[in-house]
Amino acid sequence: MHKWKVVAYTLGVIVFLVSCTLSIFYGYQVMNHKAPSAKEEKKTYQYHVVLIPEELDNEYWRVVEEGAKAAAEKYGVLLEYTGPRQADLQEHLKAIQISAAARVDGILTQGLNDEQFTPLINRIVKTIPVITVDTDAAGSNRISYVGTDNYHAGYLAGQALLADTKGPVAVGIVTGNFYANHQLQRVQGFRDAIRGEERVRIVDLQQSGISRVKAAEIAYAMLQNHPDINAFYGTSALDGIGIAQVVEKYKKQKQPYIIGFDTLPETLAYINRGMIQATVVQEPYEMGYRSIEMMVDVLNGKTIPSVVHTDTRILRQKGLQ
Ligand code: BGC
Repeated sequence: MHKWKVVAYTLGVIVFLVSCTLSIFYGYQVMNHKAPSAKEEKKTYQYHVVLIPEELDNEYWRVVEEGAKAAAEKYGVLLEYTGPRQADLQEHLKAIQISAAARVDGILTQGLNDEQFTPLINRIVKTIPVITVDTDAAGSNRISYVGTDNYHAGYLAGQALLADTKGPVAVGIVTGNFYANHQLQRVQGFRDAIRGEERVRIVDLQQSGISRVKAAEIAYAMLQNHPDINAFYGTSALDGIGIAQVVEKYKKQKQPYIIGFDTLPETLAYINRGMIQATVVQEPYEMGYRSIEMMVDVLNGKTIPSVVHTDTRILRQKGLQ
C-alpha cells in the first residue's frame, strides 16, 4: 500500500471511532433525560407572589426585595419583583392590574393613594389576597398592612428636631410627593409634633418625586428663596441625601440642621461626617420578609393581624459609634 493510503485509512478509522463514541454518549444522555412533569415543576414553588414597589430600582426597595427573597426561598415561593422603573402612579396601578390578570397567588404592593388604590384593591382582593407593604391604603379591604407607622415616624422626626435645636428654627421640608399616603402622614406627624412650639416654623414644602437629584434642586432653591432656613426635613429615603449634597457644596456659613429618613449607606456616611444630624430608621428588610411570611399564612388558610408595624426610631451620629 502507498504511504498516503495508510494515512487515509488510519484517519478514516479514527473518525469512525470518535463518531461512534459520541453517538453512544449523547444517545445515553437523551435516553436518560426525564422531562420534569407538571407536578414536579409545581412542587418547586408552592405559590407565585408578586411584590410591586413604587420604583423598581430604588435602593430602599431593593432592601425590601432582599428580605422578601430570603423568605420566598425559605417558604418555596416564586417571587416576582415588578413595577415602574421610575415612580409613576399610573404605571404602578397598571402593574397591579397585570399581576391580577396573570392570576398570581398573592399581591404585595404599596398602597400609595386611597382614591386610586382602594377601588382596585377591593376588586382584586375578592379573588387574590392583597397585602400592603411600607405604605397602607387603610380604607381598602387589603388583608393586612406591614410597615412603618408613618404618622408616628413623622412625629418622631418632629420631636427629634425639637430636642436637637435651640432658638428660632425655619424648616424647609422636602417630601417624596403630595399624593402618597405615607409621605402625607410623615409631614402631618411632624407638623403635630412641633405644633405649639412658636420658635419652629415650616417655611416651605416641596415634592422631590422621590428623586435625589430633584431633592437637591429643591434644597438649593429653598436656600435661595428663604435665606433664613436653618433646618431641613426630608421625608423619603433619598431626600436627606439630596439636601445634604447641596448643603455640603454651597452652604458656607452656619450649617443647617438636617433630619432625613432611612439608613441607606450614603445617609449613614453623611451622618458620620456630621452633615445629616438624625434619621428616622425603618426596617425595609423586615417588611419584605414579614410580608412573604404573612402571605404564605393567608394562602395556607391562617388568619393574620390586619396591621403589623415594623420598628421605627431615631438614629443620630452617636448611635453609629
Ligand atoms: C419610603 C418608600 C419610598 C422611598 C423612596 C422610603 O422612605 O418608605 O416608600 O419609596 O423612601 O426613596
